[in-house]
Amino acid sequence: MSASCIWACFLFAISAAAAATQDKTPDVTVTCLVSEECLLPCSFPLATKESVRWFRQDVVVFSFRRGDNGSQTASQVFAGRAAMFPQLISGGNATLMLKEVGLMDRGTYRCYVRTSKGEHNAKVVLKVEGRFDANMLRCQNFEDHQELACFRVAPIQGLSLELYRLSGYEEMKCIVRNVFPPPRVTWATEPPTFEDLRPITRMLADKRGLYTADSRLRTLSGQPDLIYVCKVSTSYGGPTWTSSLREREIRGSEGRDLTIPCFAPPYLNNPTLHWSFTNGEDPAHILTYDSRSGDSVSTPPWDDHVELDGFRVPFGDGSLRLMDPDHAVHTGTYSCVFSVPYNTHTERTDVSIEGPTVNRSTSEAASYWWIVALAVAVLILGLVAMFAYLKLKGSAAKPPRRDPEEVTELNSVKDVGGESQMSEDGRFLAGGTNGQSGLS
Ligand SMILES: *[C@@H]1O[C@H](CO)[C@@H](O)[C@H](O)[C@H]1NC(C)=O
Ligand SMILES: *[C@@H]1O[C@H](CO)[C@@H](O)[C@H](O)[C@H]1NC(C)=O
Repeated sequence: MSASCIWACFLFAISAAAAATQDKTPDVTVTCLVSEECLLPCSFPLATKESVRWFRQDVVVFSFRRGDNGSQTASQVFAGRAAMFPQLISGGNATLMLKEVGLMDRGTYRCYVRTSKGEHNAKVVLKVEGRFDANMLRCQNFEDHQELACFRVAPIQGLSLELYRLSGYEEMKCIVRNVFPPPRVTWATEPPTFEDLRPITRMLADKRGLYTADSRLRTLSGQPDLIYVCKVSTSYGGPTWTSSLREREIRGSEGRDLTIPCFAPPYLNNPTLHWSFTNGEDPAHILTYDSRSGDSVSTPPWDDHVELDGFRVPFGDGSLRLMDPDHAVHTGTYSCVFSVPYNTHTERTDVSIEGPTVNRSTSEAASYWWIVALAVAVLILGLVAMFAYLKLKGSAAKPPRRDPEEVTELNSVKDVGGESQMSEDGRFLAGGTNGQSGLS
């Protein structure tokens, strides 16, 4: 008795499950983009006298009835935005077309079809996503307020970061153009420093309502090898862009191989490396190296003069070896750019190749003596500083605080050129009274 019940129950369960699967199509997930057209699919076995109802959380949002020329009724939220195709319905296709979908249309829908042959149900899960295109519409759903805010976004297309040498100081300038909503600009250094970075950022909106962010940061004195990083982020969760820069100067001599250093900050993974050169004219391409593919492309005539260790690039070392350099040809600015999507790091190196002393005239000889003079000056400065320190230590006078300043002054004098030798000496002599006899 009980055994037969079990058997009967089992059979009943099997048939019930079979009946359920017969009419049940698996859930379909549809992903549509904000403000675009969207199709919620539903197909059913061919029959006559079709009537279709679309539900969302058990509320009818759209209905269709065959007969009096196929009447269609949309709920208020779908008014004017939803439609079905009578000619398709007779072919077993009850797809619902929804125009201008928004985030509020997200959810689970059910298509219910009744025909001469029976009933049919299908479930569709609708997902709606924003887009990251120019002038895209972006909506943010504030769940707690049940409020939806939509605005057109002009995404960040790129950053520019440049170093400007002004009188007495240097400034990094980071610019982002034509974006909406106004972005957030922050700065960092690599390696990080404990000093307070005090950028000044201005946001300017144009007639179209697009913003240009102009952020300036004074470089920290006494830290010449620092990388400055400008980061620009959005309030709507778009990608954060970064651009970083380091500038340096190096000297080489004609005919002697020279390595131009270039190192990526650690946060750039598998970057593409791009080297270029300029000596006042348009930049010339030297080489491009793709860390992912290992492809390297160099442009003649540079391919005979440069060498790159491709194995080191993925580890952030993109240093370029300049072989048999020539004073006239290879003196100039070398730029090395590491890039991954949304991030670039640039190292700009002013390279001067000294010509052979035999061929070169007085200017070259002068610059040679200038180097010697600089070396002597630095040596004497050091001695004077030490002497002054020892002397002043006892009498508790102010410490020789001017040392680092004078070093930077020497550096800036170096930029000016050969003529400045006198002023450099003058300044030096003015600074340390005891050094006068020693230098002359
Ligand atoms: C059905 O639609 C067609 C064309 O749209 C029209 O000519 C016809 O009069 C309509 N019939 C009824 C009953 O409304
Ligand atoms: C139903 O119609 C829509 C709209 O034309 C179409 O995209 C879809 O492929 C059709 N589905 C089937 C199963 O034919």
